[in-house]
Amino acid sequence: MSENPATPHGAQSRRGPFRTGDRVQLIDQKRRIHTITLTTGGQFHTHKGVLFHDALIGASEGSIVENTNEIRYQALRPLLKDFVLSMPRGATVVYPKDAAQIIAMGDIYPGARVVEAGVGSGALSMSLLRAVGDGGYLHSFERREEFAEIARGNVDTVFGGPHPAWRISIGDFQDQVVRTEESGSVDRVVLDMLSPWECLDAVSTVLAPGGVWVNYVATVTQMSRTVEVIRASGLYTEPESFETMVRGWHVEGLAVRPDHRMVAHTAFLITCRRLADGAVGIPGAKRVKEHSYSAADLETWTRSKDPEAWTQGALGERAVSDRKLRRAAKDAKSMTQRGSLPAATAPGADNEAAESTELDTEAN
Ligand SMILES: C[S@@+](CC[C@H](N)C(=O)[O-])C[C@H]1O[C@@H](n2cnc3c(N)ncnc32)[C@H](O)[C@@H]1O
Repeated sequence: MSENPATPHGAQSRRGPFRTGDRVQLIDQKRRIHTITLTTGGQFHTHKGVLFHDALIGASEGSIVENTNEIRYQALRPLLKDFVLSMPRGATVVYPKDAAQIIAMGDIYPGARVVEAGVGSGALSMSLLRAVGDGGYLHSFERREEFAEIARGNVDTVFGGPHPAWRISIGDFQDQVVRTEESGSVDRVVLDMLSPWECLDAVSTVLAPGGVWVNYVATVTQMSRTVEVIRASGLYTEPESFETMVRGWHVEGLAVRPDHRMVAHTAFLITCRRLADGAVGIPGAKRVKEHSYSAADLETWTRSKDPEAWTQGALGERAVSDRKLRRAAKDAKSMTQRGSLPAATAPGADNEAAESTELDTEAN
């Protein structure tokens, strides 16, 4: 629990002057970002000179500091969106632009009881925990222990230790959730996985009437199958399907135009709400004309009876090697212990020569 119940967990470490142990982003003249962790007597080296950590400790966030060669850096604590896009990861993360939509369209509120799967690298878990707060409940399910380990490390780093509202279980969501959650006791369900339709029965058991079910899927074929399965169950309001595109703008004098590059596709969102048991005749439900397509057409499109059609590879997802996963889990764990990003992305943490990353213009 946070020390002061009036102060939400992890909030204190995000405000006030810089302290030893804080992660700090140094942004240089070329808008490159270097992430360091402040240590008393520490030094941040680049080929352009040395910046002494002591010049930052006690300084106000947003200060401009100079190194030994008068190279200037703007110093700020990383925001959650910065952390998510640079943290150790095994699986693809939910991008901040989509996490924001999930919180808003899923109506995730302080005190809500939420279940989610899969946890992957824990990116969405962080946003969900922020939304439910210390008095809420988030139970996250992940079928692969290695991913859960990475997620634990990342979440603990962001909140400065275990979050009081978070529980993580290993196993398949559809098997586990009905064992741990009482029927009708969950306010919100959020699924980010290959085949959410397999979870229909489990979600329908634990979700309270009126509760919101959010699905996040990468391809139109997954979206189609998810929507059809939810609709056919008759247990939910008509599913709403959408995607979020965020286009940055270049604004400089008279040169005001959209950025040349953007993240064009991440995933689709599908939301619906649980009806009361026994509710029939859904107003507004799509009445699909019988002659518009047959069951065979739908089968051709969704290939629901062909297990080979729904593998990671068939859906264009790259499998992550065990070696990469072990490495990410190790990085996430050491990051929690040291409070810093791993050496490759956190130059200066141990006074090693600096590496820098371009400011990620695609960081939605
Ligand atoms: C794309 S990742 C999730 C990313 C995560 N939401 C984040 O923001 O970091 C999908 C995860 O779902 C897990 N998964 C797939 N099917 C599952 C199931 N039925 N139950 C639990 N986890 C599942 C996979 O192991 C994988 O880690």
